[in-house]
Amino acid sequence: MVTGGAGYIGAHIVRVLRHHGHRVAVLDDLTTGQRGRVPADTDFFHGTILDAGYVTSSLIAHRSDAVVHVAGVKSLDDSIRRPLDHYSINAVGTHSVLKAMQAADVHDLVYSSTAAVYAPHPSGVVDEESPTCPTTPYGRSKLMAEQMISDAAHAQDLNWTCLRYFNVAGANEALLADTTSRSLIPSILSALYAGLTPVVYGDDYATTDGTCIRDYIHVGDVAEAHLVVLENMTKNRLSTTYNIGSGGGYTVLNVIEAIRRVVGYEFAIDILGRRPGDLACVVADTAKIRSELGWAPRRDMLEIVESLL
Ligand SMILES: NC(=O)c1ccc[n+]([C@@H]2O[C@H](COP(=O)([O-])OP(=O)(O)OC[C@H]3O[C@@H](n4cnc5c(N)ncnc54)[C@H](O)[C@@H]3O)[C@@H](O)[C@H]2O)c1
Repeated sequence: MVTGGAGYIGAHIVRVLRHHGHRVAVLDDLTTGQRGRVPADTDFFHGTILDAGYVTSSLIAHRSDAVVHVAGVKSLDDSIRRPLDHYSINAVGTHSVLKAMQAADVHDLVYSSTAAVYAPHPSGVVDEESPTCPTTPYGRSKLMAEQMISDAAHAQDLNWTCLRYFNVAGANEALLADTTSRSLIPSILSALYAGLTPVVYGDDYATTDGTCIRDYIHVGDVAEAHLVVLENMTKNRLSTTYNIGSGGGYTVLNVIEAIRRVVGYEFAIDILGRRPGDLACVVADTAKIRSELGWAPRRDMLEIVESLL
């Protein structure tokens, strides 16, 4: 059962699992998800994760043996304006999913977490042991969910993996693209389409070219990581956390260069001052999942930009 399987990342996960022969169902309330992203012959349960009874009956009806819990709200900025919505869906929602799994006797869980759970790190490169201390209600709501999962695991015999995604981008098909994202690459492409000049916030960070460094990962690679984790779970017990990133960083100017190559023309940019709260560098150390499960991303920045375009 993929909660949030009508959303951007969830729909990619559903496709990859089905492609590898898994029987998949989706539970989604369609707040940001789209019914059209769910294949017509996939069992679809239209409802909220906040209703533990509905999640339980859906798990039983589908005879699910694992949950990929993707449903959630994800905006850092919105979480400052609407913190209770984030705590409700991300934290209380995960509580509800855990209760439902217990009631339906389902014991394997993969959870969609985020790099936003980490504390700002001096080197900018974080591994799974790096301190967590989220700076937004969004990050705190996701960390609460992680903590609930690890606590509940002891009491309800749970086999679990929390995947901390970094900057997810790109699309495997146009239908599955993230049309709501306000992150760097979509913002630049939207500005170009609108005939506006893309904006860069800050060029005086202590990085190679002064702009912020982030770790971008193609959504197709993220989806494949779920397949690898789930298939390992059926063989070995897992109670762990993995970073899901490319393991490499791109400055904002590197990203703009990649976009220029893909669109095939030069365009101007406006450099403004720093945005409050932006860190100079956030990059995943992905050694743990590479060595333990053999997963590694296969797509690069050009493929991300080409697919988005
Ligand atoms: N997109 C990223 O870069 C990114 C990075 C890190 C972590 N994440 C995490 O990945 C998850 C999915 O992100 P996404 O980009 O696919 O977002 P999305 O908004 O496209 O997908 C979320 C899905 O969850 C569904 N949903 C929301 N509330 C629900 C509820 N109460 N009950 C049932 N379904 C509900 C939505 O309808 C939607 O289909 C989120 O949990 C987010 O925190 C995303």
